[in-house]
Amino acid sequence: MKVCITYRETFYHLLKAVFDACNKQPVVAELGVLRGENALKLYNALNPKEMVLIDSWSPAANDAYSPFDQLPPWVDSVDKYAYYYGGPMHDMATYDTLYQECLSRFADKDNVTVIRAETIAAIDEIKTRTEIDKFDLVYIDANHQYEYILRDLMYYQDLLTDDGFILLNDCCHSLQGTKQNLGVLEAMSSFIKRSDFIPVAVTNTDWSDVILVRKNSLMVQLIDVALANSDIPFVEIPHQLMPAARVVYGQQRINLSFV
Ligand SMILES: C[S@@+](CC[C@H](N)C(=O)[O-])C[C@H]1O[C@@H](n2cnc3c(N)ncnc32)[C@H](O)[C@@H]1O
Repeated sequence: MKVCITYRETFYHLLKAVFDACNKQPVVAELGVLRGENALKLYNALNPKEMVLIDSWSPAANDAYSPFDQLPPWVDSVDKYAYYYGGPMHDMATYDTLYQECLSRFADKDNVTVIRAETIAAIDEIKTRTEIDKFDLVYIDANHQYEYILRDLMYYQDLLTDDGFILLNDCCHSLQGTKQNLGVLEAMSSFIKRSDFIPVAVTNTDWSDVILVRKNSLMVQLIDVALANSDIPFVEIPHQLMPAARVVYGQQRINLSFV
């Protein structure tokens, strides 16, 4: 697995190079879309054949933030993230505005289907509203709590082609992540024991992005070759170390540590 000194957008271009090498125009999904900014970056970088954008756009998503009546002292209130959502976290109007923003961002793209549903309920809608059988890439960035990420990973692996990629956002252990009750890295750690997926690359950033692919896929070698021939600096480590990753904050920048 390669620890890459780069950002998630570079990974999109790397994946595009890999898809091009396979002569494949990918079918892509994003789970957790917000206002569609990252989805548009994925769209522009990957030129997908088809794309599905899934988000509940509902304050009900907050119900899963913590299972406890009283928040543990190391977890911030969900209301703290109103600035990121652009309005109060418990008002439907906040989510209606985000949904409309996303729709207008993709209004001129007729190969994009926007599904306003919880990620698992959306699976039936994918079947009824599109002709898509399998995806080549699923970007997972919806509910970030352990059980939910693990559930998205377990369900959506079956919607991937044999050589399909999962990109997992915010896959880190950090002080900032702990304040959000983040369970992404822990869910990924469990998922790789339950499946034949392995992490092949991670960004050396806070809120790290990880690329996962099936260990017997040809894509493992293709990502290797693409990274080795890119200008992205990286350090290679055994993929089994990924669960040990934690973000270390310095005065100038952050890094990942595996000790
Ligand atoms: C971190 S934001 C996504 C950000 C976006 N991917 C980006 O990078 O710009 C998380 C989104 O997931 C959605 N979400 C949370 N839980 C969800 C669930 N269970 N099903 C569907 N969407 C969910 C929220 O409504 C929110 O818009």
